[in-house]
Amino acid sequence: MCGIISYCGKRPAIPILIDGLKRLEYRGYDSAGLSTVDNNKMVTIKTVGKVAKLENKTAGIQNSSTFGIAHTRWATHGKPSEINAHPQSDCTNKISVVHNGIIENYLELREELQKKGHRFKSQTDTEVVAHLIEDNYEDDLEVAILKTVERLVGTFGLAIIHSDFDHRVFIVKRGSPIIIGIGDDEYFAASDSNALAPYTHKMIYLSDDEFAVLNSNKYYIKNMKNQILEKKIEILEEDDYQVDKKGFEHYMLKEIFEQPESIKNAFRGRIIINEGVSKLGGLEPVVDRLKDIKKMIIISCGTSYHAGLVGRYIFESLTELDIEIELASEFRYRRLKLDEDVAVLAISQSGETADTLAAIKEAKRKGALLLGIVNAVGTSIAQITDAGVYNHAGPEIGVASTKIYTSQLVILTLMALFIGRYQSISFSEGNEILCALKKLPDQVKDILKNDNQIKKIASKYSGYNDFLYIGRLYNYPTAMEGALKLKEISYIHAEGYPAGEMKHGPISLIDENFPTIAIVPIDSTYDKMINNVHEIKARNGKILSITNEKAEKIKKLSDDFICVPQTIPILQPILNIIPLQLFAYYVAREKGCDIDKPRNLAKSVTVE
Ligand code: M6R
Repeated sequence: MCGIISYCGKRPAIPILIDGLKRLEYRGYDSAGLSTVDNNKMVTIKTVGKVAKLENKTAGIQNSSTFGIAHTRWATHGKPSEINAHPQSDCTNKISVVHNGIIENYLELREELQKKGHRFKSQTDTEVVAHLIEDNYEDDLEVAILKTVERLVGTFGLAIIHSDFDHRVFIVKRGSPIIIGIGDDEYFAASDSNALAPYTHKMIYLSDDEFAVLNSNKYYIKNMKNQILEKKIEILEEDDYQVDKKGFEHYMLKEIFEQPESIKNAFRGRIIINEGVSKLGGLEPVVDRLKDIKKMIIISCGTSYHAGLVGRYIFESLTELDIEIELASEFRYRRLKLDEDVAVLAISQSGETADTLAAIKEAKRKGALLLGIVNAVGTSIAQITDAGVYNHAGPEIGVASTKIYTSQLVILTLMALFIGRYQSISFSEGNEILCALKKLPDQVKDILKNDNQIKKIASKYSGYNDFLYIGRLYNYPTAMEGALKLKEISYIHAEGYPAGEMKHGPISLIDENFPTIAIVPIDSTYDKMINNVHEIKARNGKILSITNEKAEKIKKLSDDFICVPQTIPILQPILNIIPLQLFAYYVAREKGCDIDKPRNLAKSVTVE
């Protein structure tokens, strides 16, 4: 989704802005632009399409400005075009604004400003911000910006410059991500820390309704009452970056292959095998409250929702809690009693997903204990929750989430064990889970060794237009996640279903052109899964199964099968998803799709 980068320092701004935009490309966008001030004149350059095109456009321009703002736009209001690309400006072209988020009351503000004589050029919601600042400006720009923000309804990360104010970049945050980078006599703002990786590791995470002013040799942060705030500077580690492909053709493939390490990082230092417990420093501050919790509601979106679905079964098997799971985008419509007995657990890779953020704010209002599982350090969801656990999986750049999903499943297991050991889970049960967990990285390595076999199978199946994925219990979410992976990167229609539901409808789709991917581990669901596979075979459906080496019956029944090592049932989804990630990857590759940046999708979905 939209990405923002701003610079204020002593170096020429344009190369830094372009470089920052390139680092934000993975978020997904359709147009790009930047503004700097040269000889007291606003210079704005925009393009539809890639940042490389914007770079070409800036190549011949003599501009030594040392401050500016830039943006990658993911269209919401108005189609992708140069006019609608950011920065957006006011009538005098003295004010330039870039924005991530949505101004919900923009139509009303636009009409009001038009009546006053303001002339609008774009269809964007963002343009009202520039005009409103112009309208509010008398003699103090900061006051004008504060007055403007007071009128805005919605979510926004904003970066603003004014051609009369040399070396000043104004940043505002409400609901959308924007962080400040502190260099030596130079300051940055960006949608995420990746954009700032080569420039600084010192970050300030703004909270909602905070306002920063960056100058070339100082910065300050205020609240909306115009009072100066003291904010902590966080230092990021090298591991929090690392954004090159390391020789892999795509980030997605690299991230799939990183899973032995990301799984290990999820439990490293967090397990005490000989006590059968997990040690989660992030939950310690709320441990007393956690012991009294009766119910947990998991909220998340997309792949993180699928992790939550597996989490529901894990929590049910390891704790005494009542567990509910809800899509974050639906949560706020429900009439739920959320009091101090209830914990709401938000799961999010980016920590900025607008639906999840809105849901967690709703839960906060009602007094629930707020917990988080977040990968991106310091992000909004990490800030707003009372306690939580970081994935420490490093950045995930491919739009299709892979290594974070398996990392989320590990952390859900650790969380459930953390709570379960205060309840009825015994030492030996805890010990068994942790021993199984420790074996996972090597088992994942074994699956990855089969890469070639999976590639061949993917090639065989890449010509089909529809797929059904089925599984039961822990692997019903695996079916949904496998199907999501295939559809988002290869644009092939795929449905993930609990296998038992097949006979209630979807089986009517099955024929020789509609293959089924069946997830059939050796566990309590095995015999029932075999029955479902028979039902499909009886209708000439092709079967590709994900199973275990010793599962002779299903191997015989399947047209093709991929074996994964066996682990305890609650952890089996971690192993079962890996061949499905590779299958989706190789099908998409065979079809020549833009795997890391699939059409219409964004990595960080910052609008509701
Ligand atoms: O950053 P989050 O985990 O909150 O993101 C949630 C979804 O947008 C995300 O998982 C999405 O479904 C991925 N593209 C799936 O691969």
